[in-house]
Amino acid sequence: MPENTYERPELLAQYLNFHYGQEADMLPWDFGPKGALHFPVRCVRECLDQQRLPTGARALDVGCAVGRSTLELSRYCREAVGVDFSHTFIMAASLLCREGSLPYDLPEVGGISRRVEAHLPEGIDCAGISFRREDAQALPTDLGQFDVVLAANLLCRLPYPRKFLDRLPGLLNGGGQLIITTPHTWLETFTARDYWIGATPETGEPLEALKEILAPNFLFEGTRDLPFLIREHARKFQWSVAQASMWTRRSN
Ligand SMILES: C[S@@+](CC[C@H](N)C(=O)[O-])C[C@H]1O[C@@H](n2cnc3c(N)ncnc32)[C@H](O)[C@@H]1O
Repeated sequence: MPENTYERPELLAQYLNFHYGQEADMLPWDFGPKGALHFPVRCVRECLDQQRLPTGARALDVGCAVGRSTLELSRYCREAVGVDFSHTFIMAASLLCREGSLPYDLPEVGGISRRVEAHLPEGIDCAGISFRREDAQALPTDLGQFDVVLAANLLCRLPYPRKFLDRLPGLLNGGGQLIITTPHTWLETFTARDYWIGATPETGEPLEALKEILAPNFLFEGTRDLPFLIREHARKFQWSVAQASMWTRRSN
């Protein structure tokens, strides 16, 4: 069985910092790309149309990692469910909700790290929030149906992204909002080239390929560019720009 990257302790610290870190721990330089901070918060604030949510809305965050977007969805929805394939991430997200804080070691340089704490953001009530370990490519029917489904930077980490995309119509209520963000970082270490969604000379632009797959069941609402910054250590960062696409489930 190949090793799951997202079970590694250094990835847990990286994602806890990405989702919950102090700004100075996410980016200690004034001249850095500040607009790329708080990506899991912006995925919700900038892409969700709050006005269109029904009373008692349910939200699903697929590939939630350590759960920040799930928590943000809970500000607007009665119930928010976060699912991820990583035991480590789901345990951390659940523990943070239960305890209110979680320590982690922030890498500084080489073998040196600094102990810091992730805190539950202000105004979050965990009563309507749950986390489950699930495979996005085989989501069980007992999850039910949702008014919002968010899949942030998940698609190009799945071996069979089409299995997830084909499951989406059954996950959303009519009029429900689907938000997919992806930096389109297709890599054969995660997804065999035959299963990429577009992104090859033969299959063309990924967004066009996505439209072709989703169009029968979803109305395309538009896109946004969402930069994000992940700290590897005090002097190394990954700066990327995800393409968010917003969709509405057609009422068939
Ligand atoms: C690039 S990270 C994005 C995490 C989070 N949505 C964010 O934007 O910070 C990809 C996430 O997808 C999860 N993942 C990978 N394969 C998965 C699968 N088959 N089912 C559910 N989650 C999966 C990983 O564990 C990881 O948390």
